[in-house]
Amino acid sequence: MNQKKLVFANWKMNLNSDEATSLVKNILKKLESINKVDIVLSPSFPYLAAINSLLYNTKISLSSQNVFWEKDGPYTGEVSSDMLLDVGCSWTMIGHSERRQHLLETNEMINKKVLTSVSKGLKVILCVGESFDQRRQGKTFESIADQLQRGLRKVDESFVEQIVIGYEPIWVIGSGEAASVNDISSVHNFIFNELKIMFPNGKLLPRIVYGGSVNSLNIEDIITLDNVDGVLVGNASMDCDKFCDIVMKV
Ligand code: PGA
Repeated sequence: MNQKKLVFANWKMNLNSDEATSLVKNILKKLESINKVDIVLSPSFPYLAAINSLLYNTKISLSSQNVFWEKDGPYTGEVSSDMLLDVGCSWTMIGHSERRQHLLETNEMINKKVLTSVSKGLKVILCVGESFDQRRQGKTFESIADQLQRGLRKVDESFVEQIVIGYEPIWVIGSGEAASVNDISSVHNFIFNELKIMFPNGKLLPRIVYGGSVNSLNIEDIITLDNVDGVLVGNASMDCDKFCDIVMKV
């Protein structure tokens, strides 16, 4: 299981065109020679094409923050896998807790997005995570298992390499304080074992990355844990120095 570590930047609904392009240019100056880490940037939809032209011929990949499961048709406001591939995305993020919460995305919708995206050749970061209440009630593992099983339903083992699981405990996202290394470790080990059961014949399993207030001070404690194959970074990914620092410490 010798895959590279992954650092995935989630800019959410932030940064305008000038800010996004200058951030990418600065990141490229600092990180272009970095080879040992997979780096993915996910700007908002309107800037994908412009950022793709900056990333062209570099080792940094482009992701959308969402995708729709249909190929084309009367789905106003939605964007298909083919359209994402067309503007240069090799990745898409699916099931972020902010979409589950504000856009009422269900595991069934998320599963359709995963199935279409992988079959079209996109790599997918599938986000899962428990709420504060679920953790308090001792339902963390139950909730994560449910999101994994329903989100990855009917996904063929041949697509496993295209999938990354992003574990993000919901209440630490944007809080400035990551989950404890013990909590991260126990959930990552749990996810790893669940994936082994779900994909018993795969030579590789999906990588599992942690997200939720990752910064340049806590990255080293997190990245050295077993079964932590990378990080999903929100706030700190919009500051060139902080983001590059994280990548260099991975
Ligand atoms: P954060 O966001 O790093 O700002 O906590 C992470 C995410 O939501 O992906």
